[in-house]
Amino acid sequence: MSEPLIEVKDLKVQFNVRDGIIHAVDGATFTINRGQTLGIIGESGCGKSVTAKAILRMVPRPGKVTGGEILYHRRIKSNGSEITDIVNITELDPDGEEIRKIRGGEIGMIFQEPMSSLTPVYTAGSHIGEAVGLHRLVPIRKVGAQMVETIQAHRRISKQEAREIAIDMLRRVGIPKPEQRVDAYPHQLSGGQRQRVMIAIALSCEPKMLIADEPTTALDVSIEAQILDIMRELQETVDMAIMFITHNLGVVAEMAEEICVMYMGKIVERASAVEIFYEPQHPYTRALLKSIPHVGKKSRERLASIKGMVPDPFNLPSGCVFHPRCPEYMPGKCDRIVPSWTQVGENHWARCLLYEGV
Ligand SMILES: Nc1ncnc2c1ncn2[C@@H]1O[C@H](COP(=O)(O)OP(=O)(O)OP(=O)(O)O)[C@@H](O)[C@H]1O
Ligand SMILES: [Mg+2]
Repeated sequence: MSEPLIEVKDLKVQFNVRDGIIHAVDGATFTINRGQTLGIIGESGCGKSVTAKAILRMVPRPGKVTGGEILYHRRIKSNGSEITDIVNITELDPDGEEIRKIRGGEIGMIFQEPMSSLTPVYTAGSHIGEAVGLHRLVPIRKVGAQMVETIQAHRRISKQEAREIAIDMLRRVGIPKPEQRVDAYPHQLSGGQRQRVMIAIALSCEPKMLIADEPTTALDVSIEAQILDIMRELQETVDMAIMFITHNLGVVAEMAEEICVMYMGKIVERASAVEIFYEPQHPYTRALLKSIPHVGKKSRERLASIKGMVPDPFNLPSGCVFHPRCPEYMPGKCDRIVPSWTQVGENHWARCLLYEGV
């Protein structure tokens, strides 16, 4: 029943900067199934956003995908029946037509921080600018015009039809009087309304997947709850998958069926949300869960820092990169051997020497 939509295999993304090479994503492997919500958690700087951007071919310069593949299983009609065509996103031209069709059309994206979405960051000609232009509100243009443009970029319909879809979408995300609000400028809306508009834009093309990178971080709790409800509701009606990136463990517990825990560019544990919360196996996951006071309750706190510092990206520890901070550190092993992906339960995987019998 669970059919893969996006398969990320051994993905590597590097930033070559003046001081050296940052391995922002270092061999990440995971699958997102159709209609499924996958949560991605981990401390700041561990590679969550860069992974999301790689899926849309939007890694900013000087970043480069240096290894692995991202397979998008696209359903297409052929001779009256439906077949699956597999596209390797890492091989697409980042400015080419194919990725532009996928970006914003088949895969939508909502960024963190709605306030910053008011900054005009559109730079014509750059693929990042283009994607940003599609998913960030430009302050000097009416909301409806921006929505119509996005919808028309991905669907062959008239302006009038696109405007009707835009109004309907605004209504569905709970914007009052959408027939009037469609002609508002972004600054005339509240922060919560702007974020809803962003969601409306991302969802207006009925994407197969929504990448939500801390979509509600800047919002207050009641608006956050409404937006999460809207996302879930729309997910059911269009069978959309969601990649949900967040620091808020309460929110991820509510939204995600499965969770990947990331540390220093690697997925270190993956399991159902229930198992991650109740039977975490990787010492890093356990430390993360301890770092918030009430798991399961709606905590507004970001993950508190756990013991020790996140390592210097130019000078990564040998063996398991978590070993200098790990309460289960086994000298002579963890500092020497790179742990491999090990099955620790029925649908539960971890990257830790505790489970490798070494
Ligand atoms: N444009 C860039 N230039 C250089 N390094 C970058 C750039 N963007 C990201 N990085 C580096 O890549 C690594 C992963 O960053 P990323 O933004 O994916 O972290 P994150 O997990 O999303 O963190 P946060 O939770 O704070 O959003 C970090 O070490 C970061 O410094
Ligand atoms: Mg991020």
